[in-house]
Amino acid sequence: MPRRVLVTAALPYANGSPHLGHLLEYIQTDVHVRARRLAGEDVIFMWAVDTHGTPIELRARREGVDPADLVARMHAEHAQVYRDFGIEADIFYTTHSEETRKHAEFIYEKMQAAGQIDKRVTRQLYCPKDQMFLPDRFVKGTCPYCASADQYGDVCEKCGHTYNPTELKDPHCAICGTAPELRDSEHLFVSLGRFEGFLREWLNSAKLQSAVRNYVMRWVDDGLRDWDISRDAPYFGFPIPGYDGKKFFYVWFDAPVGYIGATQKWCDEHPDRASFASYWRADQSEDTELVHVIGKDIVYFHALFWPAMLHAAGYTTPTRINVHGWLTVNGEKMSKTRGTFILARTYLDHLPADYLRYYFAAKLGPEQDDIDLDMADFVSRVNSDLVNKAANLASRCQKFLVGRLEGKLGPVPADAEPLMAKAREALAQVPGLYANFESAKALRLAMEIGGEFDAYITAQEPWKVVAKDPERARAVCTAGMWASKVIAAILKPVLPKWAATIEEGLRLPAPLDFVNAIEPLPEGQTIGAYVTLAERIDAKKLEAIVEASKETIGGAAPAAPPTPAYEVEPLAAEATIDAFAPVDLRVGKVLAAARVKGSDKLLQLTIDLGPLGQRNVFSGIAQSYAPEQITGKHVVVFANLKPRKMGKFGTSEGMVLASGAKEDAITVLELDPRSLPGEKIS
Ligand code: MSP
Ligand code: ZN
Repeated sequence: MPRRVLVTAALPYANGSPHLGHLLEYIQTDVHVRARRLAGEDVIFMWAVDTHGTPIELRARREGVDPADLVARMHAEHAQVYRDFGIEADIFYTTHSEETRKHAEFIYEKMQAAGQIDKRVTRQLYCPKDQMFLPDRFVKGTCPYCASADQYGDVCEKCGHTYNPTELKDPHCAICGTAPELRDSEHLFVSLGRFEGFLREWLNSAKLQSAVRNYVMRWVDDGLRDWDISRDAPYFGFPIPGYDGKKFFYVWFDAPVGYIGATQKWCDEHPDRASFASYWRADQSEDTELVHVIGKDIVYFHALFWPAMLHAAGYTTPTRINVHGWLTVNGEKMSKTRGTFILARTYLDHLPADYLRYYFAAKLGPEQDDIDLDMADFVSRVNSDLVNKAANLASRCQKFLVGRLEGKLGPVPADAEPLMAKAREALAQVPGLYANFESAKALRLAMEIGGEFDAYITAQEPWKVVAKDPERARAVCTAGMWASKVIAAILKPVLPKWAATIEEGLRLPAPLDFVNAIEPLPEGQTIGAYVTLAERIDAKKLEAIVEASKETIGGAAPAAPPTPAYEVEPLAAEATIDAFAPVDLRVGKVLAAARVKGSDKLLQLTIDLGPLGQRNVFSGIAQSYAPEQITGKHVVVFANLKPRKMGKFGTSEGMVLASGAKEDAITVLELDPRSLPGEKIS
């Protein structure tokens, strides 16, 4: 067993408020840390807010404040929410710190000295209207790998690929919607290919879920591409040394260094604890386990770039990365309009944090499956597990002992022994389950113990037995209290307050842990009155949360398409289809596409012709293009074609140029995404 464990959770971006998706990860991490501590391990949880990058720069501009002040305000909001959810990191620092800057520069200089960073002039997207280079998050467009529309310029949220903003199809400025132009700028690249040998070795030796290992290994097999770590000003971040404030580290270069910066700060403040070097210097950390908990959208950064950076600078490389899935609500992606994009604070306004801690922990397993917060299931889980099983057992036994038997504990009866043996066996598995992120299984064991002892109490009927044989009733209820103690120990990483209530009520001499929980309760000891452990959830509370989420976030309406800042020639006179000569071809942008009911050949397209307006066009390409494949594309439109009635489907106002010998192999003539809708094509 390693002597020291350093656990991190991904650093939340400071530009938004924490929502329940974040909480899924932070509860998972907090439970892992608490459980390993209960098992006697020396664990620190290093954490921070991720402050740099364009979104914060953008928001600060919008609000007319200094980005550093905005970050400080958001930092405080995040810290308070996490505290209220019982997330107990040893430090919740900020990446905008001297410690992080120092370590980021150190890594950069090491890589620089080792010749691992190349300078290259690159063509970058530049918004002529906003007069700035558009870094990753300032550009949106279609993913070059999976063709998902509306993706940011650095990473596709659908397929997880990273790329350069210039590779996006159909790019547009995220601030103003203008199609950007290309301009030259010098950038710095980490040549990741030089780390291929190291990365393969690391991927094979680190503890990764096998799906994650395979996924990342495939990226390595596909060939590692250089990684652009620089961004042009204006950018809220750390200036790259030697560039006079004109270039900044890309946020993903310094963000994970925040893990190191937080540890530096914490070690400086705790000189009595292990040294910084024993955590982060590779040559001094062989007894240290380094665990990162992350979501599946940021695997690329943690499992390729990050180990390479650490390795280059002689820092400890991750021992383990645990990747969790995505949180969905009622089976769907969180949505502002449906009210299922729930801010952590909104939840807390209506329900106690512990219910969510329990629900998430009861669903989280070791794999990266998505986790669904199903409102009905949430209510019934909390009510049937926590209230009807676990709390009910303690409540019945404790109330009975205190109310009828002077609150005195007795010996446990022999006929409870088989159940107690089973409970001891279950408890023995619990530390390993938590250490392996299998909280769902650990909690299931607790609920099984609860259910079995509850049934035992019901069968023994102490309330009837007590008249004739009070000592028998005392013994039966003492067994129930003993089981409540074991259950409380298992619940403790998830519900620390529950465990504290049991410790207090049973007057336990020491805080519960996974070892002392099986000790017998002292005969003759007087216990305290029952204090409510959990109360039923009212389904109305959840409806209220959804309602409030609709209000507080109120779907920010999508920005109206900008009015084109250019003019195009007016259309030529209307022509018929057999007269090709006067055909007027224009650039059209497919705004929307839908299948046509009753036709397997037609797609109904909404096409933007810029200043010439929009057109409804039926196109016989349904067997070659799914609606989402054609949406967003720039196509050639026969724009002065006389509107044609397409049978029962409606009128087609134009024609998209396409051809193909087979119906399922039609190719639409596609134009460069920089083409302007409405422009005449010669
Ligand atoms: N700032 C980066 C992480 C830098 S780590 C050096 C980031 N921030 S984030 O705020 O977008 O996300 C923080 C964590 O929350 C990530 O691990 C992310 O996967 C997780 N989640 C954000 N939304 C989520 C869901 N809807 N569901 C589950 N996890 C989610 O990424
Ligand atoms: Zn712009």
